[in-house]
Amino acid sequence: MADFDNKVAFITGAAHGQGRAVALSLAAKGAKIVAFDVAKKIEYPKYEFGTNDELESLVKEIEDLGSKAIACVGDVRDDKAVTAAVNKAVETFGTIDILFNNAGICAYATVDKMTDEEWNAMIDINLKGPFNVTRRVAPVMMKAKKGVIINNSSVMGLRGGNRLSHYTASKWGLTGLTKAWAIELAPYNIRVVSIHPTGVNTPMNDGLAAMEGKTPEEIAEASAGNLLPVPWIEPEDVANLVDYIASDKARYATGSQFVLDAGLLTV
Ligand SMILES: NC(=O)c1ccc[n+]([C@@H]2O[C@H](COP(=O)([O-])OP(=O)(O)OC[C@H]3O[C@@H](n4cnc5c(N)ncnc54)[C@H](O)[C@@H]3O)[C@@H](O)[C@H]2O)c1
Repeated sequence: MADFDNKVAFITGAAHGQGRAVALSLAAKGAKIVAFDVAKKIEYPKYEFGTNDELESLVKEIEDLGSKAIACVGDVRDDKAVTAAVNKAVETFGTIDILFNNAGICAYATVDKMTDEEWNAMIDINLKGPFNVTRRVAPVMMKAKKGVIINNSSVMGLRGGNRLSHYTASKWGLTGLTKAWAIELAPYNIRVVSIHPTGVNTPMNDGLAAMEGKTPEEIAEASAGNLLPVPWIEPEDVANLVDYIASDKARYATGSQFVLDAGLLTV
C-alpha cells in the first residue's frame, strides 16, 4: 500500500511551480488531489500565473499515475470560490486529509515606494488566503478528527528580506498562524506545520528575475545566500519534504518550522 492511498490532498496554487510538484508527488503515492488555482493573470505582480491548460494537464498526469484529481478555479481571496471548492472536494472524495496552503505571490518594493495596492495584494493573498482556505477546510478535518495542514512560508518567514517588507510580513504572519492553529487544532488530531524554502526554480523565480531585467542566475548570484553550491532548489525538493510531513512518519510534528534552505539561514 502506498503512503497516501485513500488520502485526499487540497492544494492551492497547484497549476505550476511547487504546488504542481507536490500534487504529482502525493498522487504518485496514492493521494487524490484537489488542484485549486486562480488560473489567470491577476493585476499584480506582472509575471506568469497558472493557466487552465496547466490545471487540465495536471489532472491528466495524475490520472496517468493511476490516481484521481479535480481542478477548481478560484482566487484564495474569494471566500465563495474557496467554499465552493471545499464543498466540491468533499462531495467528490468524501473528505480532506492534507491541506497545502501554497498559493502566493512575490514582488520587490522599498517601503518608501510601496503602494496600498501592492501591500494589500501581498497580505490578502499570502496571509489572508491561507486563513480563508483553512477556515473552510478545518471543519472537515475536525469532523474527521484527523488531518495535516502545511503552510508554505519561506526563508523570509524567519528572516528579513531586502525590498520585500510586504512579502516578509506576510510570511512571518503565516509562521505565526501555523503556531496558533497548531495549538487550536491539536485536540482534533490535526497537525499544522510551516515550511521555509530558499529560492525555488519556479515561474515565480523566473518572473521576479524578469521584473528586475536580470536572469535568474544573476539574481541568485547577487543574493548569494545558499551555503551549498546551488543557486536554488527544485520544486521536487519541496515535494519530498511535503511528502514526509504529510505522512505518518512525521506523526508527532506539529507547530514546527521545517527549513529547506541549502544552509541559507545558518549564517
Ligand atoms: N519560488 C521561490 O523562490 C519561493 C521560495 C520560498 C517560498 N515560496 C512560496 O512558495 C509558494 C509557491 O511558490 P512558487 O514558487 O511555486 O510560485 P509560482 O508563482 O511559480 O506558482 C504559484 C501558483 O499559485 C497560483 N496563485 C497565485 N496567486 C493565487 C491566488 N490569489 N489564488 C489562487 N492561486 C494563486 C498561481 O497561479 C501559480 O499557479 C508561494 O507561497 C511562495 O511565496 C517561493
